[in-house]
Amino acid sequence: MELHNVKAYYRQLVGSTHRVVRAVDGVGMTISEGEIIGIVGESGCGKSTLANVIMMNIRPPLTLVDGIVKLYSEGREAVDLQRLSREELRRRIWGKEVAIIPQAALNALMPTLKIRKIILDVMKSHDPDVDEDYAINTAVRRFRELGLPEYTVNMYPFELSGGMRQRVVISIANLLNPRLLIADEPTSALDVVTQKMVLKILMDIYSKNIIRSIVFISHDIATVRQIASRIVIMYAGKIVEEGSTEDVITHPLHPYTDGLMNSVLTPEDEVKRRGVRFIPGQPPDPSNPPPGCRFHPRCPYAMDRCRREEPRMVQIDGNRLVACWLYTSK
Ligand SMILES: Nc1ncnc2c1ncn2[C@@H]1O[C@H](COP(=O)(O)OP(=O)(O)OP(=O)(O)O)[C@@H](O)[C@H]1O
Ligand code: SF4
Ligand SMILES: [Mg+2]
Repeated sequence: MELHNVKAYYRQLVGSTHRVVRAVDGVGMTISEGEIIGIVGESGCGKSTLANVIMMNIRPPLTLVDGIVKLYSEGREAVDLQRLSREELRRRIWGKEVAIIPQAALNALMPTLKIRKIILDVMKSHDPDVDEDYAINTAVRRFRELGLPEYTVNMYPFELSGGMRQRVVISIANLLNPRLLIADEPTSALDVVTQKMVLKILMDIYSKNIIRSIVFISHDIATVRQIASRIVIMYAGKIVEEGSTEDVITHPLHPYTDGLMNSVLTPEDEVKRRGVRFIPGQPPDPSNPPPGCRFHPRCPYAMDRCRREEPRMVQIDGNRLVACWLYTSK
């Protein structure tokens, strides 16, 4: 997939004035077949909104203000997802090409519905005429692949262990073999053992070729490091740095990334420190971001230019991208 200059804003009516939250504000990125990408950033920086943009799941108060979201398939013409209606997205894209495990979904199965009914509802949302036996058999096969016994389909969510519930949610998101799975904070609020298990299930479906690529969203770099080969760092609705996971973690370029890394690095990591030990201050109000570089009020290296002009993304060392004025002369 390719995203070009995507802007997605929430519009809220506060009193008699409109407040516009620029949650995703000029994002460009590529997601290649076979790749696991981590998207990392503080709470509120726009990760979940970006997930919805990649799915093109745009509903009020969220609006797509600008940009292109292109889906490529071998042997077929590329599709501009922003041109499709919700009906077309449901029929052609969601679940089949791109699927999502939404934030907090791993423990959020409807308690009053048998798993069987949840499976049928999901399959019917993609194809209202789907044969029920076919739908259940498809799910049973997927359950088996992920170590769930067949009888799970006849149980209620409350009868399952936490680990089984997570397998069920991940299985159901992947029933139709989507090429890309977006996992939005799938390991947050889980204990370390359960986190490891969820990562293992995701790696399982990836290595069994049930899915081809993963976008793994997290505010926790240590977790992302365990699964992603490439990292995208977001700050206040923008991508500020991108590169291979190890490069970004061991040699962060952007001062924000540098600050983030302090919390997760082990002593063995060889890091060229520039002296940032923590990130003072708060992320900006996304309805009124500062001019120039959005990180400038918190950046120890801020220069006059940073307060006036927005840094553009530049390529460093062939395969790294950073948006910071410290690198424009390089
Ligand atoms: N429905 C909404 N209406 C208005 N603003 C919203 C809405 N949903 C999110 N926002 C705002 O958009 C910005 C981005 O939110 P988003 O949920 O994408 O962030 P996030 O990076 O996923 O955060 P977290 O790590 O807490 O999940 C935030 O400022 C948030 O307050
Ligand atoms: S552009 Fe300026 S303010 Fe922004 S991160 Fe770079 S040095 Fe800091
Ligand atoms: Mg989120």
